[in-house]
Amino acid sequence: MARISVSHLAKMKTNNQKITCITAYDASFAAIFDQAGIQVLLIGDSLGMVLQGHESTLPVTVDDIKYHTTSVASTAKQSLIIADLPFMSYSTPAQTYDNAAILMRAGANMVKLEGGEWVAESVKGLVERGIPVCGHLGLTPQSVNVLGGYRVQGREDAQAEKLLSDSLLLEASGVQLLVLECVPVQLAERISKALTIPVIGIGAGAQTDGQILVMHDAFGISAGFCPKFSKNFLVETGDIRRAVALYKEQVEAGTFPADEHSFY
Ligand code: KIV
Ligand code: NA
Repeated sequence: MARISVSHLAKMKTNNQKITCITAYDASFAAIFDQAGIQVLLIGDSLGMVLQGHESTLPVTVDDIKYHTTSVASTAKQSLIIADLPFMSYSTPAQTYDNAAILMRAGANMVKLEGGEWVAESVKGLVERGIPVCGHLGLTPQSVNVLGGYRVQGREDAQAEKLLSDSLLLEASGVQLLVLECVPVQLAERISKALTIPVIGIGAGAQTDGQILVMHDAFGISAGFCPKFSKNFLVETGDIRRAVALYKEQVEAGTFPADEHSFY
């Protein structure tokens, strides 16, 4: 089977089929996720927290993401592979292109960056140069020090309107996928309906076009606390492969995330 493409994901949205995504950092888990039919694997800068033990994603470097992208790409043959551009690796368009090229050469099929209006020029430039881009709005962990903590975004009207306009601007700039993190269910639904491209939620309710989880949260093995929006799929299954299958099943059925995992 050929690798999942961005147009395949777009078709899934049109057909009302939910997209299942998970983070991956190594060859062994990537192989399991790939064989389970997970559409998207993300080498997230969350690796700074779940692999390296840092308090935030800020210490992660392009070299770190490159290393783990190489590992994931060695076994993932069907899933679309997205690599995160880490903190301060896309401050200017020129720097963005150089760092995105490193991750694409390591085996990524798409890069992801956080932010709205200020990344629009870089997004357009990347797409023109042949690099597909995934946006990331809502709770953007690289800005945790500006946001004042890991908290739900878009609860006030002005903030919600800004999130919607940033989403539309990113789509207009060429983003082909958008991650929405920690936003109220109704706002996530509104943005998903307003956009043609698929919207992937994490802590954004069940009305988005797909879901993503940090793999350590999905298996309940994170050292810190498990966020409210995550679920330990290993509890009911007792087996990694069955846990992955259950996650995919519940995303497709729309039963994960449930109300208890969502913000209102
Ligand atoms: O770094 C990461 O794992 C992410 C996901 C939570 C979307 O950006
Ligand atoms: Na990330």
